[in-house]
Amino acid sequence: MKQNMILAGLALFGLVFLLLVPPPNNANNDSFSPPVQLTLKSPDGRLQLAVFTDQGKLYYTLAHDGKQVIGRSRLGLRFRDQKGFDENLTMRELARNSHDARWEQVWGERQFVRDRHEALVIEVKRADSGQHMRLQFRLFDEGLGFRYEVPKQARFASALITDEITQFALQGDADAWWVPSREWNRYEYIYHETRADAVSLVHTPFTIRQQDGVHLAIHEAALVDYSAMSLKKLRDGLFKADLSPRSEGGLVLTENGFTTPWRTILVGDDAADLANSDLMLNLNEPNKLGDVSWFKPGKYVGIWWGMHIRDRTWGRDGVHGATTEETRRFIEFAAEYGFDGILVEGWNLGWDGNWYENGDVFSFTEAYPDFDIEALADYARQKGVRLIGHHETSGNISNYENQLEDAFDLYERLGYRAVKTGYVADGGDIKRIDDNGITRYEYHDGQAMVNHHHHVIKRAAEHRLAINPHEPVKGTGLWRTYPNWVSREGARGQEYNAWGIPPNPPSHTTILPFTRMLSGPMDFTPGIFDLRPSERPPVRADMPRHDKRSRIETTLAKQLALYVTIYSPIQMAADLPENYLARPAAFKFIRQVPADWQDSRTLQGEIGDYIVVARRDRNSPDWYLGAITDENPRQLKVPLDFLGDCDCRAEIYADGPAADYDTNPYDFVTRTQAVTGTDILTLNLGAGGGAAIRFTPRNQ
Ligand code: NOJ
Ligand code: CA
Repeated sequence: MKQNMILAGLALFGLVFLLLVPPPNNANNDSFSPPVQLTLKSPDGRLQLAVFTDQGKLYYTLAHDGKQVIGRSRLGLRFRDQKGFDENLTMRELARNSHDARWEQVWGERQFVRDRHEALVIEVKRADSGQHMRLQFRLFDEGLGFRYEVPKQARFASALITDEITQFALQGDADAWWVPSREWNRYEYIYHETRADAVSLVHTPFTIRQQDGVHLAIHEAALVDYSAMSLKKLRDGLFKADLSPRSEGGLVLTENGFTTPWRTILVGDDAADLANSDLMLNLNEPNKLGDVSWFKPGKYVGIWWGMHIRDRTWGRDGVHGATTEETRRFIEFAAEYGFDGILVEGWNLGWDGNWYENGDVFSFTEAYPDFDIEALADYARQKGVRLIGHHETSGNISNYENQLEDAFDLYERLGYRAVKTGYVADGGDIKRIDDNGITRYEYHDGQAMVNHHHHVIKRAAEHRLAINPHEPVKGTGLWRTYPNWVSREGARGQEYNAWGIPPNPPSHTTILPFTRMLSGPMDFTPGIFDLRPSERPPVRADMPRHDKRSRIETTLAKQLALYVTIYSPIQMAADLPENYLARPAAFKFIRQVPADWQDSRTLQGEIGDYIVVARRDRNSPDWYLGAITDENPRQLKVPLDFLGDCDCRAEIYADGPAADYDTNPYDFVTRTQAVTGTDILTLNLGAGGGAAIRFTPRNQ
């Protein structure tokens, strides 16, 4: 009885205590306490982040102009063999600060980048184990970045992540543009345009447009020693992080603590806002390579398209493309018309037969006997140009890693400055032999491949080589940290127009700037002038052309505009020399357009319909403009205010009045007119068409 009274007294005291003393924000050990909330506003005040715990679980929301764009969404991590950061959690604020600085890019879409954000750091503790982590939030005017940091601590010497709980709760109906994830063809799909609810598992950047016109894009920044994040629909409107699994089980293996990539959410009033954001770059670490002036942005040609359209073959079981004679022809063409690089594919042993299923046999140091690599490198040097290397691995990364040092030695000795790599492995499997000699198969964007790409980038930098991977891991802004990671593929490129059924539809390149291009430069390889290559007679009876449905579904002018609308510091002039020489008026634009920019602005655009981009040359006062449309003809009015007070000459390369990608793709006109920054230019684009413009001060 007495005991009961004491207990009742204690309980009463406890209740009074709880009622009178609110739980302090920073020392709350009760997993069933009322929500604790921390908030943060973007520098312009339009975005507001809230982070809170509820019943021991961690959540965030993001509001734009007072309206939630990301509703209540969970945060957390789970591990094998140990407790997760998923329940019994408490949190407290560790730090907050304002940041406003400017940094310089060695190359890029703009020379100077402003990094202005509000930062909040939160410590999260698990009450029943004492384990702790930090959450870093950075809120910019154009969106949010956040990441988990699990510092070194007991039980985290080695931790296998089995789930990243991070959610993204979309609000209301939205249109979405996406490609499926973890499918056999990696990122190389025609974009789907559906309601967000029709999605199941997608790659990022994942772009949506809410009914009120607000645009969001979910992606990640600084993907290092982790596996890539896809997004999985849990139920209508609710998505979660879904990490590519490891072949050895689990999702990500960590040691002595770890830091995840930043999860990013861009928020824009319109589509152009997404394309103009530098958020991903700002979340990456500064240049770690120091002086990389040995790499110069530029344009290249190559022994490449000929193989895709079946004029030539990679191996010797047809008409070998990479011969000494043919390479000399390309070197001379490049030198004469102002290209700095010549890519040569099919130069090395391993291409005979079914190369895309047989990466085991590639040699990265031995040239075919009809490719005199030493003499050609010499010849290129004499002509003031450089060969570009090619390493197709067909997905066997062990075979490649074993030869990497020798392969890079060779290229460095011969004066190469750039290497295109390739990971064709249809079915998606990358072959790797582990430390115990066991053959494993990895996803192209799992942790093993993320680490492989880092390994290659770092070794390449030691040999002063820039890398351009095809079938890559998606971009996450790491070229800021490693500026020799100059471009990549990672979407359906021009090659699909040579042999794809269907080829890229006219809308494809009006979707890329708001989806794939949000992850960085793309080696799309624009500039095809013979738009119907599959209609040419075959060069040999046993090398039939591709199906006629494979064709380039653009006008000629649109091929030029792509040099401005698609950003890459290395841009290919992908067609054969003879096709350029046959159309000198259009070729003039490709010869002039630069590949490095002082400034870049997406002026207008609607995803899947059209886009207008203006860029200022990094090395002259000239501006360039590219405008492209989907399958619909379109009249665009473009205010030229970006020209400032320039009294300029505009050289316009445009669709002719009857231009149409389907029926009349070569109707093409050029004209020159005087313009100033107060003018509004009217552009008439044909179906699947475009316009490309160079603006030069008239007094120059
Ligand atoms: C696929 C690449 O995207 C393409 O550019 C290349 O020619 C082939 N693989 C062969 O490496
Ligand atoms: Ca490819």
